[in-house]
Amino acid sequence: MIDPSAAADIADALARTGVAIRAGFLAPDLVLELASESRTAFSAGRFHAARVGMGETRVLRPDVRGDHILWLDTPDSDVRRAYLAQMEALRLALNERLFLGLLDYECHFALYPPGGFYQRHVDRFRGDPRRAVSAVLYLNETWESVWGGNLRLFESERADSPYRDVAPQGGTLVCFLSNSVAHEVLPTTHERLSLTGWFRRRI
Ligand code: OGA
Ligand code: MN
Repeated sequence: MIDPSAAADIADALARTGVAIRAGFLAPDLVLELASESRTAFSAGRFHAARVGMGETRVLRPDVRGDHILWLDTPDSDVRRAYLAQMEALRLALNERLFLGLLDYECHFALYPPGGFYQRHVDRFRGDPRRAVSAVLYLNETWESVWGGNLRLFESERADSPYRDVAPQGGTLVCFLSNSVAHEVLPTTHERLSLTGWFRRRI
């Protein structure tokens, strides 16, 4: 189960800076199993190309994002249940420390094939204020910096904002405020795996 001091560190960093980065958030064996489930489901054709926008206005925009996703609607394996239990513990810890009123968590596997990227964006949808905290857990066992594929987190909404890059190293969890933190996925030359989700509030 989640280490209480990890949850506290994540909550404090989120409150202070809007971003929290935690290496080794999930045990390496769980990360390996999640990566293997993700690759198996991708090979079985269960992923689909991710779209941009929500509801009726969702469209394919390969010029904006190149990842393929699979929603975790039914946690139909032990390792998915273990991941969701960990995120549930984090939800409770964030509510306890930050009074965010986070109600639930939605998440999907994401796979960026070589050449994939996701242009700069903010996660909260216009017209749907529910997404409050984004949480990305990386699943590649190793990551070489020459592969690219970093997550770039901007400090402000200005076009020339300073930024910080995070390598998608397996086990690292990145949390950030969904309504304000602009970010992008730099082009990757190597298959890049993650589990990406959002803690949501009531409308
Ligand atoms: C997203 C996203 C970041 C990442 O799916 O909205 O920004 O590092 N993902 O995968
Ligand atoms: Mn995003």
